[in-house]
Amino acid sequence: TCLLKSSGRNLLISLNRQFSVSSSNNANKVAVMGASGGIGQPLSLLLKQSPLVDHLSLYDIQHTKGVGADLSHIETKAKVQAFVGQEQLHDSLAGANVVVIPAGVPRKPGMTRDDLFNVNATIVADIATAIAKVCPEALVCIISNPVNSTVPIASEIMKKHGVFSPRRILGVTTLDIVRANTFVAELKGLDVTKTSVPVVGGHSGNTIVPLLSQVSPTVQFTQEELEALTKRIQNAGTEVVEAKAGAGSATLSMAYAGARFAFSLLEALNGKQGVVECGYVAAEGLETSYFATPLLFGRQGVEKSLGVGKITDFEQKLIQVAVKELKANIEKGVKFVNEVY
Ligand code: NAD
Ligand code: LMR
Repeated sequence: TCLLKSSGRNLLISLNRQFSVSSSNNANKVAVMGASGGIGQPLSLLLKQSPLVDHLSLYDIQHTKGVGADLSHIETKAKVQAFVGQEQLHDSLAGANVVVIPAGVPRKPGMTRDDLFNVNATIVADIATAIAKVCPEALVCIISNPVNSTVPIASEIMKKHGVFSPRRILGVTTLDIVRANTFVAELKGLDVTKTSVPVVGGHSGNTIVPLLSQVSPTVQFTQEELEALTKRIQNAGTEVVEAKAGAGSATLSMAYAGARFAFSLLEALNGKQGVVECGYVAAEGLETSYFATPLLFGRQGVEKSLGVGKITDFEQKLIQVAVKELKANIEKGVKFVNEVY
């Protein structure tokens, strides 16, 4: 069995045909856009393994037929369909209630996530346009970077088609939480499966704000530890980019994080109560129009933001820095859609 952590609890995914987790009668169809990529392939494998997924649709501009044939032999219930090339984009989305988007180019050493904007903005906008036309009610989980801008881009596209809902467009920041949990548990000798660190703000450098005062279980940090941990969590993506030395960015840990996020959404869609994950969504009453916070999921996606809670002066200062950068990232995404679409 493979143990995946989901919304603070453990979701057992059995490789046996007798599944240990029951799913409801609702048929869940998950479409993975960019399914042949470094993230797309292991993410599709994890989704194929899950009893929460009835149909798995794989879309990419290349190689999906092979990935699909391969995955389709796995003895789990999800029916696999593979679509390749622009002309099959719409078909790949038919009937999907959850769409996960890891399509786009990854960073190389020396690049920021914003350096990916020129290529990935168009990729996400085109996929969002297709979603708006084919499955406008689907919950859209955006992994493609720069997430701080691609979420506003997808949202603006939905608005242009009159189908926007802040419940449905979600930026996946789960990898920041996964990393924070790992680093904090390592440092403090905690059971990582029971360690939970909220991370708010956005998903790039200074916009990633771990709330180390809210770690569960309660732990104390020195100021030096707080600063070092915060820096490591903010730079963890770059740590992987440098270690991969030109061969891309995090793929396996991102596939894990993307699956954790999708499973939490699917559990909530199936009626499970109290499912919470952090995510980057359109925000109201905050200093920026998009912000990542812990979110309560429900049958229609985001039920409500749980906000940042009680934070320390140190965290408040980090948020102030994050807000400035987020505003620029958001504006860039909105401007792109207004000028090009
Ligand atoms: P990759 O290059 O290995 O895979 C990307 C895939 O997207 C490729 O298979 C490519 O063919 C496909 N693609 C390109 N254009 C497409 C289009 N128009 N439609 C459909 N598919 C298309 O890259 P990767 O390592 O899988 O990373 C993908 C993206 O995820 C990058 O932008 C990366 O920065 C981002 N990422 C985000 C997080 C996060 O925490 N949110 C973490 C890691 C990576
Ligand atoms: C990550 O955090 O690993 C991703 O956003 C990929 C990257 O470019 O760092």
